[in-house]
Amino acid sequence: MRTIKIRAGKGYEVQIGAGLLAQAGEKSLAVSKAKKVLLVSDDIVYPLYGEKVVKSFTDAGAEVIPFVFPHGEASKNLETYGQILEAACEARLTRSDMIAALGGGVAGDMAGFAAATYQRGTGFAQIPTTLLACIDSSVGGKTAIDLKNGKNQAGAFYQPQIVIIDPEVLETLPEIEYRNGCAEIIKTAVLDGEELFEKIRKTPVREQYEDIIAYCVDFKRKYVEEDEFDLGLRMKLNLGHTIGHAIEVCSDYTVPHGQAVAAGLAAISRAAAELGYLAPADSQRILDLIEAYGLPMTLDDAEEDLFNAAAADKKNSGDTMRVIVPKAIGDCVIETIPREQFHKWLSAGGAGK
Ligand code: NAD
Ligand code: GLY
Repeated sequence: MRTIKIRAGKGYEVQIGAGLLAQAGEKSLAVSKAKKVLLVSDDIVYPLYGEKVVKSFTDAGAEVIPFVFPHGEASKNLETYGQILEAACEARLTRSDMIAALGGGVAGDMAGFAAATYQRGTGFAQIPTTLLACIDSSVGGKTAIDLKNGKNQAGAFYQPQIVIIDPEVLETLPEIEYRNGCAEIIKTAVLDGEELFEKIRKTPVREQYEDIIAYCVDFKRKYVEEDEFDLGLRMKLNLGHTIGHAIEVCSDYTVPHGQAVAAGLAAISRAAAELGYLAPADSQRILDLIEAYGLPMTLDDAEEDLFNAAAADKKNSGDTMRVIVPKAIGDCVIETIPREQFHKWLSAGGAGK
């Protein structure tokens, strides 16, 4: 088992190891006095892993109240969030009890926001089951739900008390979800540098899950510890996301997050090369890696639609926008540009072609 300590919030451990799912209860209750656990999961994950996790919590002495919602981004909304809060209240959870997320980023983001706001903050454990959630969303304390006009528009920074990652659960992950997770890993590699980039170029991620998860969690740890509240360095983790989020909005969230990030990363890499930031050979290496993992590379929406969706993003301020631009593999910069200039970046990234 590997343990990575995150110094954010009250501090917590990310524990990674095959077979840990069966110990999720014992491990969570070692860091919490919870007597009751609201287990938030979706209707695909719960039938696969719910029983094992419920047993682990019950054996460790807690009462478990399952809350199962229909899978997918469409559930990450006010209605489901409200139902989670009502379920917590109905079960008479107290602030010393716990909400545990068993699932992907949707379960984690939504359960985390419920934990942050139920009685102004109750215990919270992350038990991620998608590759994307293992390497990214379960760590760092960003929690949120989507509103009708935007993704992650209501949320809170709220760190979990523990993150328990069992890579064995990834065996049941559909191919498309594997690829979605790989998109965020490729993003991480472009930010981090040659070591991770070459590691995943030479050997498929699925042949080295535990290593890659530990590498990515430790990479994210540095950004979260330095900038927990996303005011500076952490913004770089949004590489590929400005255009990626716009793609998600334009598709009415039918394009999954990972696919959108891949296309967004491809576009910003093309634009960075065309606008003189990135060597064309490095841009091509990024595109080749995205292609090798079977991820989308093109922008299929109209330039104007992407512009409007990106311009409305919550990360903008006033008339400016922030774009994370690769200058080399392992060297990305935050550029603040006048909003209108984003048209140029979209065109250079291949929009409308
Ligand atoms: P998801 O939670 O919808 O999971 C994707 C699909 O995989 C779902 O259908 C789910 O039922 C299924 N699934 C999950 N685990 C499985 C398993 N082990 N076996 C079989 N099927 C399984 O989506 P996601 O890609 O995990 O997360 C995307 C969400 O995460 C988005 O809402 C995004 O905004 C958010 N996100 C948050 C952060 C953050 O820092 N908080 C970072 C990145 C993404
Ligand atoms: N996923 C981006 C962040 O956690 O900041």
